[in-house]
Order: sequence, then structure tokens, then C-alpha cells
Amino acid sequence: MRQIIIAGNWKMNKNASETQEFCAELAQYLKTHSVKDVLPLIAPVFPFLAKAADLLAKLPAAVAAQDVSAYESGAYTGEVSATQLGSIGLNYCIIGHSERRQYHHETDALVRSKLLQLREQDIIPIVCLGETLEQREAGETEKVVVTQLEGCFRDIELKSGSEIVIAYEPVWAIGTGRTATSLQAQEVHAIIRNWLKQRYGVEISGIISILYGGSVKPDNIAGLLRQPDIDGGLIGGASLKIADFCQMIDTAVDVAREKRPTP
Ligand code: PGA
Repeated sequence: MRQIIIAGNWKMNKNASETQEFCAELAQYLKTHSVKDVLPLIAPVFPFLAKAADLLAKLPAAVAAQDVSAYESGAYTGEVSATQLGSIGLNYCIIGHSERRQYHHETDALVRSKLLQLREQDIIPIVCLGETLEQREAGETEKVVVTQLEGCFRDIELKSGSEIVIAYEPVWAIGTGRTATSLQAQEVHAIIRNWLKQRYGVEISGIISILYGGSVKPDNIAGLLRQPDIDGGLIGGASLKIADFCQMIDTAVDVAREKRPTP
């Protein structure tokens, strides 16, 4: 059974004290609740990553960066390298988010370079992909997603399925309040799983977590997580309030219990 990841992508939200307050409350929640088979994860902005990692140290939760440089080190003003993220003990990093693709013109080739940098540091990339509304309406969803997979994973070999995480995020569902239905999401997750199976084999593809992102909230998360190929959520807006975030973790714990094979 795959672990369910409940990932909060905070984007450019929360200042230092808000980050501290959220992490302290999350730590308190984790000390008093079992999260068996669920990994809560938050992705604050760069300046507060180390503090967040400190506050959640030794708890069953992870901290991720929202991006990383495609370069190793040197004269790249404003960039943060995978080595630097590794030096504060981070284990995860989001790459290829549609907002980076849209506003910073990131291509699959660039996402692949970032993935290579992260792998050097044993940081697990959460590789985001997904189609725009125009592409969906033109019936191109599968073609777009497969092209993104081929570009991001070109010549990348995996030894195990736990080396990467994929997040399917239809661009039309991000921040719009318009969620893909559970079945629409499952359909694309199955396409992704199938591509992974052909590329990496049954064993590895069976272990890779594929998250869904796009207007996930407490009242729609259960239906999404119950789908066979949806292994968690990459959640923007609804991850910013601690109560909502913890409620979604609770739901994930319930769904993990349902999904657990009976001995
Ligand atoms: P949203 O964002 O949950 O606010 O739609 C998701 C994301 O962009 O990762």
C-alpha cells in the first residue's frame, strides 16, 4: 500500500511568525494524533524552511521547498541550490509547478535539470504536471501529460519507486475553486501510472505516489483519495488554515485505513 501524502503548497503566503505558529500547532496535532500511513508535508517559502524543519523535527511530517535551481552553485543571483536545501536536511522539493511554468517559462527540460540536481542530494522531487483548460477541451489531456512525463524523465533511471513523487494538477483547477471530479482525476492518474509502468516496470510504478492538486479542500478530499491511483493531495489555498489542514490529514488517515489490505 502506498503512503498518502497530504502536501500543503503555501506558495508566496505566510510570514515568519505565521509560519512558526502553524508549525507549532501542527507539531501539537502530530503529538496527539496517529497519522499511520499518511505523511503530512508543508512547503513554506525559502527563508522559513529551516525554521519549519526545526519545529517539525522528529515528528512524522516533512518540509519541502517550492523550487530549486537547475544549477549546482555559483553566479545565479536569487537562486537556491539543491545542495543548500540538502544542507538544512530537506527531503522533498516541488518542481515544475504550473505557476513556474506559466510565469517563469519553465520547460520540461528545465524541470528535468532541477530533478537531476535534487537526485544528487537525495531530495525527493515532487514533479508537477497537468493540462490547461484549452488543452482539455481540445481532447489533448493524455498527449500533454505523456509529453510532460517524457520530457521530465528523459534518461532518468529509478532504482525504487520511492525516489520520486508526481503531482497531477490540471491548470484549470488550480486556485479556481473548480476541482476535477474524482473520476476525471482518477482517469488521468491511471494514464500516468500506466506510463510509469511501461517506463519503469510494475514494481517501481506500483510504489510511486501520484498526488492530485487543484482546489482540494476538506469537503472534496475523501472522494479523491478513495480513487485507486490517487495517493494524496498537493493543496494550495486550503492548506493555509491549520484546522482545514488537520481535517484533511484526519480524512487521509481514515482513507488509508480503508485502503489497507486486510491481513
Ligand atoms: P489550490 O492550489 O489548492 O489553491 O488550487 C494547488 C496548487 O497549486 O498546488
